Amino acid sequence: MKELTLSTTFKIYEQLSELPSAVFSLMESAVAARDTAYAPYSKFNVGAAILLDNNKVVIGSNQENAAYPSGLCAERVAIFQAGALYPNAKIKTIAITATSQNHKVSLPIPPCGACRQSMAEYESRQNEKIELYFMGEEGAIMKSESLADILPLMFEKSHL
Ligand code: THU
Repeated sequence: MKELTLSTTFKIYEQLSELPSAVFSLMESAVAARDTAYAPYSKFNVGAAILLDNNKVVIGSNQENAAYPSGLCAERVAIFQAGALYPNAKIKTIAITATSQNHKVSLPIPPCGACRQSMAEYESRQNEKIELYFMGEEGAIMKSESLADILPLMFEKSHL
């Protein structure tokens, strides 16, 4: 029997003003994207903004549906949109933020498992790390250097 230990390091920025300026404006795009969420059921608005190596920014927000599983998270709306609009561009940075119509969201909100899986495949495909910043509505911002770091032992196309 052997053991395998995997560890991840995050950076934590206490406030938005600590972010590098390009990331600060990307996060501003994510904040604006929150307002485009269609979240009448969860009342939880998520915004995502993606910076590409062609300097374009692609945004997404969660889009819910009365048939609940038919809805889609902000991160996948954004990344699929980026893939469809700019199939040859590489993704540099993703910024995510969430707010609730019911309470203040003060903790950084990490992407769900399905979104990690989807985003991680774009990272493998482009063979270059994607940095990920996520926050709530206020408070600290967390940064992961890559998608692989937040999805250890990911399922990949090489497993098929
Ligand atoms: N949501 C996202 O947009 N991203 C995530 O990573 C987690 C959850 C959305 C889905 C749903 O519309 C609402 O937040 C509550 O789960």
